[in-house]
Amino acid sequence: MSEIVAESLLHLDSSISRSGDSVSRQLTTLFAATWRERHGTAGYTYRDLAVDPIPPVTGDFATLGQRVERHGFAPPAEVPGLIENAAEHREWELTRPLLTEVLTADTVLAGVPMYNFSVPAAFKAWIDRVGFPGAFTEPGTRASLLRDTRVVIVTARGGAYGPGSPREGLDFQVPFLRAYFRRLGVAEENLRFVYAELTRAADIPQLNGFRHQAAASLEAARADVTELAGGALEVIP
Ligand SMILES: Cc1cc2nc3c(=O)[nH]c(=O)nc-3n(C[C@H](O)[C@H](O)[C@H](O)COP(=O)(O)O)c2cc1C
Repeated sequence: MSEIVAESLLHLDSSISRSGDSVSRQLTTLFAATWRERHGTAGYTYRDLAVDPIPPVTGDFATLGQRVERHGFAPPAEVPGLIENAAEHREWELTRPLLTEVLTADTVLAGVPMYNFSVPAAFKAWIDRVGFPGAFTEPGTRASLLRDTRVVIVTARGGAYGPGSPREGLDFQVPFLRAYFRRLGVAEENLRFVYAELTRAADIPQLNGFRHQAAASLEAARADVTELAGGALEVIP
């Protein structure tokens, strides 16, 4: 008799485009469907940051965070005891569920289009809240609670940013996301990026000549997503 270990997936989308038009949404949908085939639906959580936007952080968020830092990075369970007013309470109520979702996920999957060389504002709002001081620091050891968490970022860009392209050096999306998740304590080997490039090749006349490269990029992204979603099952004998 063997038992399959329950796995959990937190699936985030942040494209402002509807699923039929959004490359990142199509790819994260493929990941999630492949993942659910292997692991079932019990551990699956979905959050659409564009449809249900998270309010941007405020000065009360910063004040509460600074107080937590002065207490030597109080863990989330101790934060309520440090709250001094209703505005800080509201900020914490907006933030705590996001931290819980990340803490309970074995894999965080995020669809993140490139907007103006960086990430959508809806995703940045999530980033700012999830960066709450001390949220992922193990009390005592100071190790990151996310050291075993897998993070898969599915990027979609209208243009191309690889070596030798005219826009090489203008990618402020992936380096930013890598720095952010590494600072949270995600291990380099658990941090994966999938790239769909030239997604606007069919629409923008100057990019029409790149339609074949766009199709190849999408095909490669679909293969990457399918492989990453089909990770080996862990079985307890
Ligand atoms: C507000 C906005 C800003 C964009 N900025 C860029 C950009 O800086 N570089 C780029 O290559 N594409 C840019 N694009 C194109 C998107 O990256 C591209 O359409 C991508 O496929 C969007 O992801 P989605 O298909 O999941 O919606 C932008 C699109 C929008 C809507």
